[in-house]
Amino acid sequence: MEKKTALITGASDGIGAQAARMLAARGWQVAVIGRDAEKTERVARELDAPHYVADFSRLSEVAALAERLKRDWGHIGLLANNAGGIFDKRPMTEDGHEHTFQVNHLAHFLLTLLLLDRLKESRAVIISTSSAAHRIPGLRFDPEDPEMRGNDSPALAYGRAKLANILFTRELHRRHHGDGISAAAFHPGVVGTSFAGGMRSPMSLLYRSGLGRKMMKTPREGADTLVWLAESRPGADWESGGYFIRRQEAPVSRMARSEALAKALWEYSLECCRDFLSQKG
Ligand SMILES: NC(=O)c1ccc[n+]([C@@H]2O[C@H](COP(=O)([O-])OP(=O)(O)OC[C@H]3O[C@@H](n4cnc5c(N)ncnc54)[C@H](OP(=O)(O)O)[C@@H]3O)[C@@H](O)[C@H]2O)c1
Repeated sequence: MEKKTALITGASDGIGAQAARMLAARGWQVAVIGRDAEKTERVARELDAPHYVADFSRLSEVAALAERLKRDWGHIGLLANNAGGIFDKRPMTEDGHEHTFQVNHLAHFLLTLLLLDRLKESRAVIISTSSAAHRIPGLRFDPEDPEMRGNDSPALAYGRAKLANILFTRELHRRHHGDGISAAAFHPGVVGTSFAGGMRSPMSLLYRSGLGRKMMKTPREGADTLVWLAESRPGADWESGGYFIRRQEAPVSRMARSEALAKALWEYSLECCRDFLSQKG
């Protein structure tokens, strides 16, 4: 039987922590990957699982994380690229990138490419936690400058990063499905988690308020499509390259359907990660 091994980023909290719990309860061996050491350790201890700490706003930490994962995991059945969020303080990262773009997209691009050989050998499924925010009105995506480097609002930067999650999924499928990789992106719904926690905005207040929480999905409901994608069969139960909501393939925005944008984002991301990659992709 295929080994059920899952690496989950953003597993210290919210949807990622809940997905880790649900998969562990279904017999998966899980790697709990987070940024905050204490929170990450707490979830890992609960599941008796190994944990890894890396701040995705530093690509050097992502590269070091990939090395540790390659050392420890001979087989990777699932990579859940889930870490991320929306941020109002968005200084350029030390790598020189827009913070939201790097944490949600670029760090996962690098992690995936550094693990790619192991993922191919394992015929892995790669799931990206995207969002319906990829459709936010007013969103532009310049293939020459996909980061738009802080020239717009936190919400637009977030929408663009979530669009990048879908474009990455589609291009990953186009380039590597033939090598055994299956890829999917999904929208978890509006979920009561620590999302938007560091922000001073009405959105943050909504996420923190009791009334807001009542209208939102629980983390368990938010993790449901991720767990379903992990537990079901690509090619039989779902098609690789797709975007899913509530266990169903769902339409994406016009920009998310663009093959040209997907290719441009891949080339741009390769260039951004050049120092950490040698002849990959
Ligand atoms: N909640 C929603 O309504 C909603 C809707 C659509 C999509 N999503 C997406 O779902 C995913 C999970 O979010 P969530 O709702 O579960 O929020 P959350 O509870 O805030 O969890 C976010 C996770 O990402 C990690 N993270 C944030 N910045 C990081 C960094 N610089 N380096 C490494 N890890 C970092 C967090 O680590 P710490 O514990 O250290 O903060 C945490 O583990 C995100 O990609 C988000 O965009 C959420």
